[in-house]
Amino acid sequence: MPWRADPGLTMDPYRVWLSEIMLQQTTVTAVIPYYERFVSRFPTVEALAEAQLDSVLSSWAGLGYYARARNLHACAQAVVAQGGFPRDLDGLRALPGIGVYTASAIGAIAFGLPTVPVDGNVERVTARLFAIETALPAAKPALRAGADALGSDPHARARPSDFAQALFDLGATVCTPTSPACGVCPWMDACAGRRAGIAARLPTKARKKLRPVRYGVHFWLTDPVGRVLLRQRPSKGLLGGMMELPGTAWRAEQWTDAESMDHAPALANWRRAGQIRHGFTHFELYIDVFAAGIPAPQGAGIPAPQGAGLWLPIDDLASAALPSVMRKCVAMAQGAVAEK
Ligand code: ADE
Repeated sequence: MPWRADPGLTMDPYRVWLSEIMLQQTTVTAVIPYYERFVSRFPTVEALAEAQLDSVLSSWAGLGYYARARNLHACAQAVVAQGGFPRDLDGLRALPGIGVYTASAIGAIAFGLPTVPVDGNVERVTARLFAIETALPAAKPALRAGADALGSDPHARARPSDFAQALFDLGATVCTPTSPACGVCPWMDACAGRRAGIAARLPTKARKKLRPVRYGVHFWLTDPVGRVLLRQRPSKGLLGGMMELPGTAWRAEQWTDAESMDHAPALANWRRAGQIRHGFTHFELYIDVFAAGIPAPQGAGIPAPQGAGLWLPIDDLASAALPSVMRKCVAMAQGAVAEK
């Protein structure tokens, strides 16, 4: 993992912070290329603080949950204003986008503070080790107490950074969610969950409430010179300021075809490309994607319809500030167009 320090060295807090924020989004494997690109573009917290928000958002595009990218930028500016990352948990916690977990992770990994960051991996290891059968989220205080007890061991206190990352790695590679490798676990003998034969089904979780469902329709419109019509979302709210394919609002009822066509960005021979699904924190979204091309004679150089749009060369989409949900729509449209 490129954000890890070599043995005996401490890690740059900027890199620790950045990797922790990214790892809240997705897996280690998925984060690595984003992380590498991000640090080569913004090698220091100062460089990030001075960058334009747009370029930060486009480097983040695809990781999802853009409030994090906005907070990342705000946090970099706050850090630079303070002359560097604070070296205590309260100071870290006060920065934009840094919660209890992230403060603890940076504190332990970058500054060697005696604290145990409790993420999903650590919750799982702790639940099993102490055979905590209470369901999440009610179990959180007990899991926190268990993790603190582990962290109070003198060996752990001597090397908080290694201890935290070893716990993450134990959770990711040995004490895995569905079939833990108890036979090779260094804590095999100490594990109350294993002794009771219940390790694999811990921690238990309260049944999730179903998320509300929303529906939308978006349009892939290309011109004869290889560009696609995009527009920018309003700066406030979900995915604020990101680019999107033009389309309808996202609402609780499905859109009929006739209604959808009222929102199409041009009169064209629209073909249904398919439907994508995307999970947001607070709702689940289904988007019908339609695709069309503007025929050559009227197409070249025409202004964007409905004012707010812009024509972007399709080849430049990869570097555009396009959120994950829109990347799914683009892939669906391109697949359908290629099939035609
Ligand atoms: N998950 C969150 N932080 C991590 C880290 N530093 N190493 C591995 N997995 C992690």
